Formats: sequence, structure tokens, C-alpha cells
Amino acid sequence: MPSARLAGTRAELAEVLSESSRSGPVALVPTMGALHEGHATLIRTARAATDGPVVVSVFVNPLQFAPGEDLDRYPRTLDADLGVCAEAGADLVFAPSVEEMYPVSTGSTTGSGSTTVTVDPGPLGTILEGESRPTHFRGVLTVVAKLFGLVRPDLAFFGEKDYQQLTLIRHLARDLCMGVDVRGVPTVREADGLALSSRNRYLSPEERMVAVALSRALEAARDRAPYGVPAARWAAMKVLTGEPGLDLDYLALRDGALGELPDHPDQPIDGRALVAARVGTTRLIDNLPIRFGGDA
Ligand code: PAJ
Repeated sequence: MPSARLAGTRAELAEVLSESSRSGPVALVPTMGALHEGHATLIRTARAATDGPVVVSVFVNPLQFAPGEDLDRYPRTLDADLGVCAEAGADLVFAPSVEEMYPVSTGSTTGSGSTTVTVDPGPLGTILEGESRPTHFRGVLTVVAKLFGLVRPDLAFFGEKDYQQLTLIRHLARDLCMGVDVRGVPTVREADGLALSSRNRYLSPEERMVAVALSRALEAARDRAPYGVPAARWAAMKVLTGEPGLDLDYLALRDGALGELPDHPDQPIDGRALVAARVGTTRLIDNLPIRFGGDA
């Protein structure tokens, strides 16, 4: 049975990293735990990409949750997570406490879970997910910047499942010259198309049946996308509005950088369809790569 070493503090992290018998580029896979096959795929991809140490961080980051969101009920399953990490080839699991990541002594005036210096995500942080969750990406980019500072990875792996997050983290690494090669990994799905998510465990059996409408809508958009953006939007909306248990937040058809698309591109454009919706009390997101235009 493979095992991974556990570090709970910055000092332990530094010690375990320095003791690693592996030499080669350091890879980091940041997570909030409650690990599933999507996370395991990121870890396996990291393992295959380097002979150096693979570090998985498990930290439910309070700074990226707004008041009233699911911070308190977010699943915490560290024992099981350690098994997933080891099985997938991780060498080290960094699972710090909130106080360890946000020590009050660093100048915070508002107590633990706070920080005075944060990362401004810029305009891309205010659209789509940022419109519904205005402080979310500031929290994500701040904790990712801290993790990059603590682990000093050469490579870092993130899922396309959170496409806007992946795009913003690429900008973070590039714009702040962090020297980290940020790599995206395609979304892992259930057999019926539902994207794996730690939040899927909140769904009742009835809600689970409703939730598959997100990926169905994206597939419908993909199938109509050669005929242009309005046709793709119509096809996706037909699926989404046909499901009464689903409360749509947004459906967005964008280019690969999340910019606006012309209705009928002259040349095919490789873009994304992105959707967010509430099923019961659970907010779900999904997205799919889509080629728009080319067949009209
Ligand atoms: P979390 O939701 O735990 O996700 C950790 C990583 O796993 C992210 O890069 C996410 O995109 C990826 N992931 C989740 N579901 C996936 C799936 N079905 N297929 C492939 N990859 C998947 O995203 C976060 O945590 C946090 O915001 C974090 C980046 C760790 C910062 O706190």
C-alpha cells in the first residue's frame, strides 16, 4: 500500500520537502479535500509529468467563501483523502489549519482567517462566477499565491472543471512572474455526463437526476455550435428551461479566453460553453470546450 507523508505546518512542509529522495521539478496539486476521481486524475497527471516530488494541498480556504456559503458544511474527509493521494502517486500532503495559513501575526487586524494583503483578480474576476460570488476569486488567487510561495512548485495542476479559475490562475502566474508552469486537466465525469464535484454529495437522489441537465445542455450547445452562437444557445436553453428543478444562474458562450464571441464567426473559433445553476440548495458549475461556427 503506497503512502504519502503528511505535513500540517509550514515548518513540517519545508522539512518533508527537503528530505524528499526525489529530484526533479516539484509539482503541486491544490485542493480543498473531499477528494474524488477528478482530483485523483490531477494527481496522476502530476505524477506522470515529473520525477520530482508531487505535493497535494488539502485546505478549505475560508477566504474564498462568502458569508452564507457552504464553508461550515463543506465536507472534510482527511483520512480518506490521504489514501486517494497515496494511491494516485503523491509524495506529500500539506493539510494546514486556518491559523497556519492565515496567522494573525502577519498584520491581520481582523483575526484568523483574514489577511491584509490579497490578490486582485482584475476584470476577469468580476464576470460569470465573479458576478455571483464577488469576493470568490480574490480568495482563490490569494491562497494559491500563498501555496506557490510555500511549496515553490515548478508545475501546478488545476482542473478545467473550474475553467474561469484555471484561466485566472494562469494570469496570476504570468502577471506576477511566479515562474510556475500552470497546467489544465480535462474534466472527469460520471458515466451519464455529470462533472465530478465535492459538492455532488449534497444532492438528494432526485436532485442528482436533475443535475445531469447541466452537462446535457452543454452537449446540446456543442452539437449545434457549428451553426453559430444563437443556435448553440437555443439548444442549451431548451434543455435547461425544460428542467423545473433547476434554477439557472448563467449560460455563457465565450471564446477560449472568456471574451465575447461574434454570433456567426467567419472562421471556426475554439471556445467554451459555461453554465452555473442551483439544484435545491446546491450550486453547481460545468463547462465544455466547443468549436463555434464553420458549418453555416
Ligand atoms: P477543489 O474544488 O477541491 O478542486 C481542486 C482541483 O480539482 C481544482 O483544480 C479543480 O478544478 C479540480 N477538479 C475538481 N473537480 C474536477 C473534475 N471533475 N475533473 C477534473 N478536475 C477537477 O478548486 C479548488 O478546490 C480551490 O478553489 C483551490 C484551487 C484549491 C483553492 O482553494
